[in-house]
Amino acid sequence: MKTIKTVKELREYRKTFDGKGVSIGFVPTMGYLHDGHMALVDASVKANDITFVSIFVNPTQFAPNEDLESYPRDLDRDLKLCEEHGVDCVFTPDPDEMYQNQKTYVTIEDLGAHLCGKSRPTHFRGVLTVLTKLFHFTRPDRAYFGKKDAQQYFIVKKGMKDLNFDLEICPVDTVREADGLATSSRNVYLSEEERKAAPIIHQALEHGEASIVKGMKAQDLIDQITKEIESEPLAKIDYVSVVDQEDLAPVEVIDGPVLVAVAVFFGKTRLLDNFFYGE
Ligand code: PAJ
Repeated sequence: MKTIKTVKELREYRKTFDGKGVSIGFVPTMGYLHDGHMALVDASVKANDITFVSIFVNPTQFAPNEDLESYPRDLDRDLKLCEEHGVDCVFTPDPDEMYQNQKTYVTIEDLGAHLCGKSRPTHFRGVLTVLTKLFHFTRPDRAYFGKKDAQQYFIVKKGMKDLNFDLEICPVDTVREADGLATSSRNVYLSEEERKAAPIIHQALEHGEASIVKGMKAQDLIDQITKEIESEPLAKIDYVSVVDQEDLAPVEVIDGPVLVAVAVFFGKTRLLDNFFYGE
């Protein structure tokens, strides 16, 4: 497995595959890899001849008050995991090389306004900007994204289609701990008590999903999920939303494919989860 730090070296390595008829898969990450990330890696290794992974805690998607400095990191362990899972090349760029007096950003209209966009207004601009760069370097045929970060998946899919990137954006199902909590690099921030309480999120979503009937009011579902999550005193809801899968705008009545998504604080840790209904 190759580990590459500079853009120049990555471009050169990528060129060695040109004209060889090999398919390239790419898994962008911020590292501190867990089973969720590795499900994306496994999907890529299975479907492509060559798999690139990037590990980069991307400063532009963090607001000044967020956890950029304290974001968990363990590069040695990450590299070992990638090697074990059959990755061909890991790109670990330096923030100073990625962003040299950057004046150009990629933004998306409307889709970034709802859900996480409300409390993180510059987040998706950072995500789309870094992915645009990474896609230029790696020129993948397929790139893999987790459905846990559903808004990110939809935004990347639409953004790359709008910009005519010639690649397939592949969704991968959410990986969970045994008690239902979605695996996340941020789960390490949870205190023992918070960790015990956090599976309430998935539980409330499962109960919500089971109670959906076509034509029901979205607000009734939101109220039910909110009530169950709020039964846990350590949980503070950021949002519970039911949105259209095309434009991510809130729906009033559930009669087509929707995304039911939540963000919940446990202390300072903000956890995301969701389910897709009627796909
Ligand atoms: P990161 O949070 O490291 O996640 C990298 C990828 O792993 C994302 O596509 C995310 O949806 C997926 N993932 C995380 N937890 C998962 C789980 N439990 N099940 C399935 N997939 C999961 O998302 C980012 O990094 C960044 O925004 C990035 C796209 C790399 C741009 O900087």
